[in-house]
Amino acid sequence: MNPVPAGALRAALYDWECEHVAGRRDQDVGFYAGLASSPGTRILELACGTGRVGVPLAERVPGSRVVGLDHDRHMLARAARRAAASPGAGRVALVQADMRAFAFARPFDVVAVAYNSLQLLTGAGDAAACLAAAGACLSPGGVLALEVTSYAPATGGTADHRSAVAGEPLGRGTVCGLSVELVGGFDHDPGLGLTHYHRRWTLQRPREPAFVLGDTVALRSFDEATLDGLAAGVGLEPGERQTRGRSLLYTARRPRRPATARR
Ligand SMILES: C[S@@+](CC[C@H](N)C(=O)[O-])C[C@H]1O[C@@H](n2cnc3c(N)ncnc32)[C@H](O)[C@@H]1O
Repeated sequence: MNPVPAGALRAALYDWECEHVAGRRDQDVGFYAGLASSPGTRILELACGTGRVGVPLAERVPGSRVVGLDHDRHMLARAARRAAASPGAGRVALVQADMRAFAFARPFDVVAVAYNSLQLLTGAGDAAACLAAAGACLSPGGVLALEVTSYAPATGGTADHRSAVAGEPLGRGTVCGLSVELVGGFDHDPGLGLTHYHRRWTLQRPREPAFVLGDTVALRSFDEATLDGLAAGVGLEPGERQTRGRSLLYTARRPRRPATARR
């Protein structure tokens, strides 16, 4: 029997996969911290997960206030523990909400959607709804910052996930006292602009039978022009961009004055 609740286990597996399989630690935090350098900056991180980005952001930007928003209470519980153990504790607040529909009474200087989180919004109109809500809570001059990754195979075409899922493990380790082996693979549909990441986790507690969890994460592809269109639709202007490997670090800014007032 597995005494770790399934949701808590999935959140722990997320952190393990991030660190040991994807190699995501804090290398993207500097990008968001660079946009939020003034003391007292108010930062909202959408889809904050376990606080991998939001908690160190609060540490790196003196006097900042960070609000992390996520719809998953198990991810938020890990974020709360990470925040409590950090020097930024007391300046991080966590909110359970849907990133496609939220509002705050006070505006933010930076709204961040780190890693590939925007790409998890695969439904029609989901990303536009998210950016509309994000844009509405940006202060004049405030910045929307996000990262998207291309998962299309370098050679083009469609990868065969079945052979990949049956192939060499992506990683092995220990999570919540369970030995873990992860096998996974991607398939990409350029027509739909969707990538599916198929995972099979084999988990085992010492002297107990192994059990398997399988899931598929759908990720929508976004190119820069599409993001520009979505941002312009909510009144944001193009900002700085950086390319890092297959990832685009993207920003758009709320004008200091509304377009009509600048004529
Ligand atoms: C890939 S994780 C990223 C977590 C964190 N930003 C990071 O970079 O480590 C994606 C997160 O998005 C959250 N998420 C997905 N859809 C969401 C939605 N509609 N509203 C709020 N959070 C959502 C998930 O619960 C998960 O914590």
